[in-house]
Amino acid sequence: MTVNGGRRLTGAIRVSGAKNSVLKLIAAAILTPEACTIDNVPRIADVNLMLRVIEHLGAQTAFDEQGALRIDCSGMNPVDTPYNLVRQMRASISVMGPLLARFGRAKVAMPGGCNIGSRKINLHIKGLRELGVDFNFEHGYIEAKADRLKGADISLAFASVGATENIMMAAVAAEGVTRIENAAREPEIQDLAGFLRALGVPIRGEGTSTLEIEGRAELHGTHYRVIGDRVEAGTYIIAGAITGGDLTVEGIAPRHLGIVLDKLGEIGVNLDTSSESVRVRSSECVCTDVCTLPFPGFPTDLQPQLMVLLSLASGTSILTENVFESRFMFVDELNRMGCDIRIEGHHAIIRGVPGLSGAEVSAPDLRAGAALVLAGLAAEGTTEICDIYHIDRGYERMEEKLQGVGAAITRISTGK
Ligand code: UD1
Repeated sequence: MTVNGGRRLTGAIRVSGAKNSVLKLIAAAILTPEACTIDNVPRIADVNLMLRVIEHLGAQTAFDEQGALRIDCSGMNPVDTPYNLVRQMRASISVMGPLLARFGRAKVAMPGGCNIGSRKINLHIKGLRELGVDFNFEHGYIEAKADRLKGADISLAFASVGATENIMMAAVAAEGVTRIENAAREPEIQDLAGFLRALGVPIRGEGTSTLEIEGRAELHGTHYRVIGDRVEAGTYIIAGAITGGDLTVEGIAPRHLGIVLDKLGEIGVNLDTSSESVRVRSSECVCTDVCTLPFPGFPTDLQPQLMVLLSLASGTSILTENVFESRFMFVDELNRMGCDIRIEGHHAIIRGVPGLSGAEVSAPDLRAGAALVLAGLAAEGTTEICDIYHIDRGYERMEEKLQGVGAAITRISTGK
């Protein structure tokens, strides 16, 4: 991708459906033999991969002319979910919960994951064990079996998104009530709860740290619309702030961006919100300190993008990453573009600089790739970003959306 920086972004960008939600809704469609239809599905590489995972398990999937995704899991067979799929996308392990609920067994390759530090699955395993699942780990596979799932009180040591989701989906078929304490509260968890409710599952407490799920023997199909992507929205809001334009980002519930908008306001970004859009205008930014935390804290998935904005703010900021280890691997690339960032453990010390200069850089992962695009939009001269297949995992037609609001950005190839 080539970006010629220095253009003000003006106009409107519509965000797509939330990647981190739709991937789990696709997995949750396994729970019912009846067909499910999902609207607002982003056409991104991770969705294609998740569809390949469930098709491998026997699902039939198709997009209709309006772009809605139809999933039919009536002929499903819980065969192995192989490493060549799971290694490309860690979210593949979210088929484990629904396969256990529907068939009482699942065999899934142990995940690799993104380049953002070691990502464990101990909390998924612990929670599922408490529902009565037996595990066997051999030859790189997790083999899970349960003759009978039984509701339980499960307390998570950390509010893991993936573990909460896997446990929620398995609990759907457990006898009695499952209570998850210290459950993740992300909007994507709330969306999954909404989808499960639409399938016929009594579920309570989403958006709080205590979730209650009542098991049900039979579930029906549904038609459901996935929420807008808050990370994509946050990325474009920061793009607007960085380029000093007048940009409206549509298709998002601003309450899903609560602390992000608060922090941006504190930095000096000029924001107006309506029920489903955020307008961002030309701003003089000042330094601040930010820590990433599980929702409602500042999302780790917007940490790299915020780093670019803070690099262009006056003064020195400290950004602390609390959710993932080694999520600062893109900092060397930003420094090559003129940023002044020093890493100390899980803190980044960011000294504001007057401007950035375009360079050849490579995207080490999805969100860092987005941050490099933002840096390119602000930089003087040309930035060439390689390995943009990472960006395509989670952003639908990013270059087209940015071109539409005045950016000089061109796709050369996927770089894979
Ligand atoms: C999801 C999102 C990801 C986001 C993250 C945190 C998807 C597809 N991905 O990832 O974009 O950055 O939430 O908001 O939805 N952990 C354990 N043991 C476990 C599980 C997690 O120690 O069993 C640790 C991880 O190593 C990590 C932290 O908990 O350091 C957060 O992980 P988690 O909340 O589970 O994130 P994911 O579901 O993997």
